[in-house]
Amino acid sequence: MPDSHHQQAPLAIDLKYKASLIDQQWSPRVVAEMNDYQFKVVRIEGEFIWHSHPETDEAFLVLEGVLRIDLPEGCVYVNPGELYVVPRGVEHRTAAQGEAKLMMIEPRGIVNTGHEGGDLTAANDIWI
Ligand code: NI
Repeated sequence: MPDSHHQQAPLAIDLKYKASLIDQQWSPRVVAEMNDYQFKVVRIEGEFIWHSHPETDEAFLVLEGVLRIDLPEGCVYVNPGELYVVPRGVEHRTAAQGEAKLMMIEPRGIVNTGHEGGDLTAANDIWI
């Protein structure tokens, strides 16, 4: 017999809705995990700081708005429904003119500012 914890109906995760619940820009929130990876949503506007992640690639899926990712060799514009993966160790800076809503996929425990630190460093493992 299933106990009460298992009686909740399965629910798909509405990524745009989850992102809309976040109270501050540049504050990633975890919506799901897969093995050691986390799926995070975030609302961004303006420019982040240049940084890199020597230990991992970092994936960005755009939900709403347009994401610009500045890279050493130029920038890439990522539209809703599009994905871009920044390779490990590559310097990058995310930016958006007007607000953009994104999903990021990366291993648990990755610091959003890499080793740069500073005011934009977000707390990890906050679920929404
Ligand atoms: Ni990054």
